[in-house]
Amino acid sequence: MPQDPPVKIGVVKEIKTHEYRVALTPAGVRELKKDGHDVLFQATCGEGSGLSDEAYLEAGAESRPDAAAVFAEADMIVKVKEPLEPEWAMMRKGQILFTYLHLAADRHLTESVLKTGSQCFSYETLEVKGELPLLDPMSEVAGRLAIQAGAKYLEKPAQGTGILLGGVPGVRPAKVTVIGGGTVGTNAARMAAGLGAEVTILDISLERLRYLDEILPKNCKTLFSTDLSLEEELVDTDLLVGAVLVPGAAAPKLVSRADLKLMKPGSVIVDVAIDQGGCVETARPTTHEDPTYVVDDVVHYCVANMPGAVPRTSTHALTNATLPWMRLLAKKGYRDAILDSRPMSLAANCIDGHLTYAAVAEAFDMSWTPARDLVAY
Ligand SMILES: NC(=O)c1ccc[n+]([C@@H]2O[C@H](COP(=O)([O-])OP(=O)(O)OC[C@H]3O[C@@H](n4cnc5c(N)ncnc54)[C@H](O)[C@@H]3O)[C@@H](O)[C@H]2O)c1
Repeated sequence: MPQDPPVKIGVVKEIKTHEYRVALTPAGVRELKKDGHDVLFQATCGEGSGLSDEAYLEAGAESRPDAAAVFAEADMIVKVKEPLEPEWAMMRKGQILFTYLHLAADRHLTESVLKTGSQCFSYETLEVKGELPLLDPMSEVAGRLAIQAGAKYLEKPAQGTGILLGGVPGVRPAKVTVIGGGTVGTNAARMAAGLGAEVTILDISLERLRYLDEILPKNCKTLFSTDLSLEEELVDTDLLVGAVLVPGAAAPKLVSRADLKLMKPGSVIVDVAIDQGGCVETARPTTHEDPTYVVDDVVHYCVANMPGAVPRTSTHALTNATLPWMRLLAKKGYRDAILDSRPMSLAANCIDGHLTYAAVAEAFDMSWTPARDLVAY
């Protein structure tokens, strides 16, 4: 349905180091155009994800030479990562921003974004019936990538034990242990099982274990997670994937330094939960440039932004999930989106210069106002 007047939606190139994802694909441009909106894109914004300027133009978007031009004209900016300092100066009072904001991690960012007076909505706090649907796609990518990365570092030249995940006829496959059977863990288990590994997945939720038992293939077994059951698994594990999450808290340390001695030399740990502090005591964040290090003969891979390694997949996975919410925000405007949609009211983090998300306020001992109270007619 054409909008009157059309909303101008702007997509900019990410400026965070080694961030190659982009918030909107040409397919998304087509959908937004169909809704009657205009789309402006910063030239080369999709390059890192294999999306050409021509593809954006063909889909009906208009090109702008730099981010400043997009920020100056657009009513609504869509991004992937939190805005960085050069972007704060370009944000405008009343302009909508929709992105992964991660305000609770950075007080300076929170204060700076509030000062701009932009209406900031965050992917990671958008909640539907207790689930966080805009975090799921990245967990799916990270879970699958954990096995790809783990397989690589199990190779001898990469300091691994030198075992092939699936084995070959007549030779045992590798053993993969996954701690945490949520989105990351399930995707990791499925990928490892598909390659022919022998997989054990541990969780503390019996309900989840029952579900996993139903849906996972026969070469995956489920196990209730306790210190003892985990220790017993570590002895013959070749690849360990850390995939636990306790909502709103740092990841529990389930594998201690002493436990590494139980593992075979050259075995590999991929601690996906590193972005929440990691579930292995010896895990510390690494980068795609230097992803691994060795402690007590065990290779550790602890990249905090794993999906960044596969932007072509991650961009599409992210935008498939975000597009319906972008359309809703553009159609209704920030005020009616907050009033009519509970998920969008929870995604609202900063409205009219006020903090509107409780957990961010608690993190910095700041005051907050529910978004719905601020925008009520
Ligand atoms: N490094 C990266 O690039 C990256 C990318 C995506 C997600 N992550 C992180 O991966 C982690 C997992 O994310 P998710 O989406 O799968 O979360 P999720 O909530 O879907 O699953 C977490 C699971 O952990 C289980 N769990 C909690 N405590 C446990 C324990 N003591 N033992 C065993 N299981 C336990 C829960 O029951 C749940 O099933 C999070 O920390 C997330 O932030 C990291």
